[in-house]
Amino acid sequence: MTEDLLARYEKYMNPGLARIFRFTGIEAVEDHGSGALLWDEDGQEYIDCAGGYGVFVQGYQHPRIVAKAQMQLGKLALSSRVLESRPAIDLAAKLAELTPGDLQYSFFCNSGAEAVEGALKFARVATGRTKIISTMGAFHGKTYGALSVSGRETYRQPFLPLLPDIVHVPYGDTEAVASAIDHTTAAVIVEPIQGEGGIIVPPDQYLPSLRDLCDQTGALLIADEVQTGIARTGYLFAVEHSHVVPDLLCLAKALGGGIMPIGAIVGRPRAWTFFEHSPLIHTSTFGGNPLACAVAEEALAVTVQEQLPERARVLGRYFMDGLRRLQSQYPLAILEVRGRGLMIGLELAAAGVGGALISALFQRKVLAVYTLNNERVIRMMPPLVVTKVQLDTVLERFEDALQQVYPDIDDLLD
Ligand SMILES: Cc1ncc(COP(=O)(O)O)c(C=O)c1O
Repeated sequence: MTEDLLARYEKYMNPGLARIFRFTGIEAVEDHGSGALLWDEDGQEYIDCAGGYGVFVQGYQHPRIVAKAQMQLGKLALSSRVLESRPAIDLAAKLAELTPGDLQYSFFCNSGAEAVEGALKFARVATGRTKIISTMGAFHGKTYGALSVSGRETYRQPFLPLLPDIVHVPYGDTEAVASAIDHTTAAVIVEPIQGEGGIIVPPDQYLPSLRDLCDQTGALLIADEVQTGIARTGYLFAVEHSHVVPDLLCLAKALGGGIMPIGAIVGRPRAWTFFEHSPLIHTSTFGGNPLACAVAEEALAVTVQEQLPERARVLGRYFMDGLRRLQSQYPLAILEVRGRGLMIGLELAAAGVGGALISALFQRKVLAVYTLNNERVIRMMPPLVVTKVQLDTVLERFEDALQQVYPDIDDLLD
């Protein structure tokens, strides 16, 4: 069954990725999910620590969010795009209430890359400037604009030339931004914690300093919270750790409650004035559709009512302590455990160790993935509804996986 499906995946979709699935032994077909658990078509149960790369904050198939989707689906899924749409307006008002400072207006789209794409356009039109400062190792998506500000050459090189006037500076380095920023800079775009770059937490003063530099030069600060947003790091939005209000905030992934794709750009009034003169300057046919917006509003309500930010903080500390104990037992394999809330990265001694560990974890029914721009880092991002007992099980299985991999450590080091 699986082999037939993989053969068809190879034939009709992505031959290269099919080979990787075979090579790593990850040959299982997902079937259904609930909370932090996923089952394959053979009935095998997995604890999901990949969390759909940040999508599954409220867990798989949260009953309240599913019910909301079913209710809205029975009424109106897509917008006429002629009349006003209540779910979109309700969601925008809710985001204005929940986001920090005077973030007020929302534009809805369908993915993270689209949110970044829009934010770059908004920054250019709002300031009349073109230069964008981004960071090395950043991941902002793979459409042309988003790719232009992303920081991994493997993905950029085949598509050159990308957008002009983009400067990449080292992540976490305020001085580097200070040297690059000037009165032609439209925006600085930054992830509050670099996700695909390897779960990199910047120094505490980093975001406040970027805020100051933007204020001094009239550039906009774009926070890409596509991965960190919606409670993942212990606050509803990761910028809240440093009390910084960005001019534009990009959201997607967990905003859809694990049920629907949706992205959003939330902006302060000063970054939104151009809509006054040109209301159709940026549009999306499916963006802001009633189904996705109704689901997203319910997802936010669940996130707040189930106190998922607090849960991320408490469980994150507990899980990180357990992973650090493993690090002290297996120091040649795990160099560092870092992160915030339930956004945790394990820096391994070599990419080979990561690959072997991910396969060994899969055999033990734990799903984990490396970060896209840094293959030496395994990410641990379980849904925030994961239980302490499930985390204990992950830690036991992780130790077992390390015991399998450790004897070969010399061969696995690059
Ligand atoms: C920080 C960040 N921005 C943007 C994106 C792109 O989102 P999408 O894959 O929905 O286009 C991602 C995806 O991983 C991301 O982590």
